Amino acid sequence: MAVRRIIEIGDPVLRVGAAPLRPEAIGTPELRQLVVDIVDTMRASGGIGIAAPQIGEPVQAVVIEIAAESTRYPDMQPFALEVFLNPRITVLDATPQSFWEGCLSVPGLRGLVARPRGVRVDYLTVDGLEQSIVAEGFLATVFQHELDHLDGVLFVDRLPDTRRLATIENYVRFWRDADPEILDL
Ligand code: NI
Repeated sequence: MAVRRIIEIGDPVLRVGAAPLRPEAIGTPELRQLVVDIVDTMRASGGIGIAAPQIGEPVQAVVIEIAAESTRYPDMQPFALEVFLNPRITVLDATPQSFWEGCLSVPGLRGLVARPRGVRVDYLTVDGLEQSIVAEGFLATVFQHELDHLDGVLFVDRLPDTRRLATIENYVRFWRDADPEILDL
């Protein structure tokens, strides 16, 4: 187990974007170890998703896991641990939906971001198998947030209204129960 340091906003590494993994890299012990480190780091931080650039590795690898006992997002539907290599996203339903997002690389803040409500993600597993998954609702937002990291984009770049950017304390105090757009939180 290796919990790595999470790179935080302001570090240019987060803005570079990530290269696709070459076919010969898939399934190697080095990549498997990197995935273990990504998972360990996400779990140690209480996150529900993380992308390789957040630990300083500029490759297209994302992990999502929504544990039933998630402390950061206690009301979400669970999602079993999954690794997404070289993911490609297709919008299936462009209807905007808004969620208050947080990010391990933007500590202490939440912001209300609108994104399409339905997506399909085509990806490779750690064993190199081609898979696809359809996501709606909050999970669709999670995918879009994590895949944005592979393009060097952070959720704060997508805030339509910076008045809806808050410390977690003020999010809980002023917005969590008050904002009608948060249908599922
Ligand atoms: Ni993030």
